[in-house]
Amino acid sequence: MNLKEILNPRIFEIPDYDQAHVTKCWQDPVIRRQMSNESNYAPIEAVQKAICEAAKDANYYAEDPSYALSLREKLAAYASVKAENVALGNGSIEVLDLIFQIFMADPGVDEAILLQPDYSAYVPRMTYFGWKIKFANLSEGLDKAADQVLESISDKTKFVLLSRPNNPMGSVMPEEEIRRMLETGKIIIVDEAYIEISDEGTSVSDWINKYENLIVLRTFSKGFCLAGIRLGYMLADSEIVRLVNRSRHIFNVNLAAMRAGEAAMDHLAEYRKVFKKMANTRDWLVDELSKIKGFMPIPSQANFVMVDVKGSGKTATECVNFLLEKNFFVRSFAKKAGLEPDTHFRISVGLPNDMEELIEDLKAFI
Ligand SMILES: Cc1ncc(COP(=O)(O)O)c(C=O)c1O
Repeated sequence: MNLKEILNPRIFEIPDYDQAHVTKCWQDPVIRRQMSNESNYAPIEAVQKAICEAAKDANYYAEDPSYALSLREKLAAYASVKAENVALGNGSIEVLDLIFQIFMADPGVDEAILLQPDYSAYVPRMTYFGWKIKFANLSEGLDKAADQVLESISDKTKFVLLSRPNNPMGSVMPEEEIRRMLETGKIIIVDEAYIEISDEGTSVSDWINKYENLIVLRTFSKGFCLAGIRLGYMLADSEIVRLVNRSRHIFNVNLAAMRAGEAAMDHLAEYRKVFKKMANTRDWLVDELSKIKGFMPIPSQANFVMVDVKGSGKTATECVNFLLEKNFFVRSFAKKAGLEPDTHFRISVGLPNDMEELIEDLKAFI
C-alpha cells in the first residue's frame, strides 16, 4: 500500500511530535521540569478537590461546551467580556486548531502572518491545514513587528497570530502595535497563554467588546498550574464563537477539566498569590542570571526566561547538557526560532529553592 498516494499530502510535510522530554521527566521524577513552561506548583487544593470530586460523576457526559454556562460566565467575568464571547477547548491549542480549520477556504493559497520567533507549535498545524505562512521578525527590542506585519498583509491574508507575552522571548508587544494591526480589519489572534504572570493590565481581552476582528486565546496550563488537565478557551465575537463550536467534536472538554476551571475561577484570590510568586521568582532569576559573566537574560513577562550565553565562552547546548546532569531539564534554542546558531536557552521558572540551586550550578559551570 502506498500511503503517499492516498493520504492528505500535507501530512508528509510535517514531522512527528517530538515530546520525548516530557516522557523522560515522567519516567525520572528526580528531573526538574524547566523545559515546557509548565508550573512547578501543584494546582491549589480547592481545584485538586474539584478534580477528585468529578470522578464520582464520571459516568455521565459533561455539559457540551456550547452550553456550560456556569463556567463560561465565570470566564467571561474574569476576562471582562460576555459569556457568548467564550468558547472552550481541550487546551488552547485545540481552539487554535479549530481556528486554523474554519478560516481555511483555499489550501495552498490562503495566507497567515506569524512572528519570528514565536511559539513553535503553530507552524506544523498550520502547514497541515494548508496555510501559506509569512513571517514578520520581532524588532531589536523584541517587542515590535507591526510595520513588517502591515507590509506583509495581502488580499490573501486571513489572520495574524502572535503570542503576547511572546514565547520564547517573554516580551510584550505594545498595545499600539496591536491596535495598528486591528485597524487593518484582518483577524488578529492574540495568544495570551502567559497573561496571568504578566503585569496587571497587559491583557487586551476587553477589546473584544470593541473589535469584532480580535480573537484572544487563554489557557489554564500556565498560571493556573493545570497543564495536564487540558483546558483552554477563546474570546471572540459571538458569531466566531458559534462557528468554532460547530467545527469541533462533541464533548471536547472533559468533566474534570470543567470542574477544575470553575473551582479556579471561584478561588481567584488564592491563585493571584500563586501568579505573584511566579513573577517574583522570575524577576529574581533574571537578576541573578545577569550577574553571571557573559550571560544576558532577556527581561520577561512570562513564566520563563530566555538567556543569551554568547559572551560566556559556553554554547547553549553545553549549558543545557550541564544542567541536565544536575537534573534540570531546560530548553535549548540552538539553531531554532531565528536565533543565532548555539547561543540561547530558555528556563521555565520553577520553585524558589530549585532556582537558587540552578543559579549556583550555573555559576560554578561558568
Ligand atoms: C504561546 C502558547 N500558546 C499555547 C500553548 C499551549 O497551551 P495549552 O496547554 O492550553 O494547549 C503554549 C504552551 O506552551 C504556548 O506557549
